Amino acid sequence: MSDNQPVRRRAKSGTANTDAVQKEYQPYVDADWGFVNHWYPALFSNELAEGEVEGIQIAGIQIVLRRANGKVYALKDQCIHRGVRLSAKPMCFNKETISCWYHGFTFNLESGNLDTIVGNPDDPLIGNTGLTTYPVEEVAGLIFVFVRADDYPDEDVPPLAQDFPLRFPENSERFPHPLWPAAPSLLDDDVVALGIHRTGEANWRIACENGFDNAHILVHKDNTIVQANNWVLPLGIRPASEDCITVFDDAEGPKGMMQWLFTDRWEPILENKALNVKVEGLNSRLYRTSVILPGVLLVENWPEEGVAQYEWYVPITDDTYEYWEVLVKHCPSDEDKEQFSYRFDTVYQPLALRGFNDCDLHAREAMQDFYADGTGWQREQLVETDISAIMWRKLASRHNRGIAAPPPGAQGRDKASSIRLRNVSEGKSPGYFVEKIDDLNNFNRTSVRQRNK
Ligand code: FES
Ligand SMILES: [Fe+2]
Repeated sequence: MSDNQPVRRRAKSGTANTDAVQKEYQPYVDADWGFVNHWYPALFSNELAEGEVEGIQIAGIQIVLRRANGKVYALKDQCIHRGVRLSAKPMCFNKETISCWYHGFTFNLESGNLDTIVGNPDDPLIGNTGLTTYPVEEVAGLIFVFVRADDYPDEDVPPLAQDFPLRFPENSERFPHPLWPAAPSLLDDDVVALGIHRTGEANWRIACENGFDNAHILVHKDNTIVQANNWVLPLGIRPASEDCITVFDDAEGPKGMMQWLFTDRWEPILENKALNVKVEGLNSRLYRTSVILPGVLLVENWPEEGVAQYEWYVPITDDTYEYWEVLVKHCPSDEDKEQFSYRFDTVYQPLALRGFNDCDLHAREAMQDFYADGTGWQREQLVETDISAIMWRKLASRHNRGIAAPPPGAQGRDKASSIRLRNVSEGKSPGYFVEKIDDLNNFNRTSVRQRNK
């Protein structure tokens, strides 16, 4: 028998996510399917032309969208009769209603009420029941839907701005940064928003936490946009002060947190002696990230000055999310619009939204297996640089307006991740050797790219 102590694979103390800390963010851990009673982007405006019908899913809730007389309506996409999705075979007899293609239950777009039944117009059910409706706002070429629980009252629906990143210059005094001009907002008058959205195979929280993770610079070191600009990134960024992050939670405002990047509250790491790695002559883009409920990232001054990047990680199921990447810029003249659009096509989309962000998309999928069955939240061993994720989890636990329930049929299902299922369906069974990532810049995924002209 050996006298050696067993190797300790798990620290007894010192990890940032102690049991006590974990308790503080238990509601977040419970939010596998996302948060409800919040505003989410649903489609780009030009993905829903006049008269068109689209079905989407957010936080496990199926939603049908229809544009009629220019206005977008959103209703629960589940017929009250026998439960089919109305969007599966759109049927509309006029501009005020949408009918179910199966037995003709016909719902008012505005109120959701059951207005009539095509082949049974005198049934007593008519006028006495209906579908949940979801408030809709359309700004800067994006359609936002307030995804709510069936019993969430109309009068409690907050303005869209409450689920949006902080606006500047209104908040410049509170969150000053002398290094760049006030970040444009989608809610400003003369902005143009260009972007893409695509489906990522990971839980929405993993995606969201990656967006503002200051410790993951390593993932991006070989990216074309970094190399082409001769950026020299630090090895990491470490919190250097208690107030490196400020939580904002004003009663009537958005709930989120601001990271004071590129100030003395964060320290760039330039050397790792154990590995004999050193970085000299730091030279990179200066930016700042903030994150807001229900999971919206704002990157100021990125990928270039005067541009702000918004990201949403919209939960679809507990293992898929819709990844929205939108660049916003003030474009007061037609010439500005044209230039921004050209730059989007030739630089921002290929090098930033794809090349750079593809690495993030991939990293999130790489984490999914660990978190898929829900135990990863206990098994992870967090460190000092994970302070951002921990603060976010706590604030999201305190301020979310509701935790999405798994939809019927989801309970008790096999939690093996969809990535594994996809691989199996492509004939790639789990093997002995790892599948290597050999060219991150070519990590492609079908996506929709839309523009607001
Ligand atoms: S299922 Fe919709 S009308 Fe019967
Ligand atoms: Fe990243």
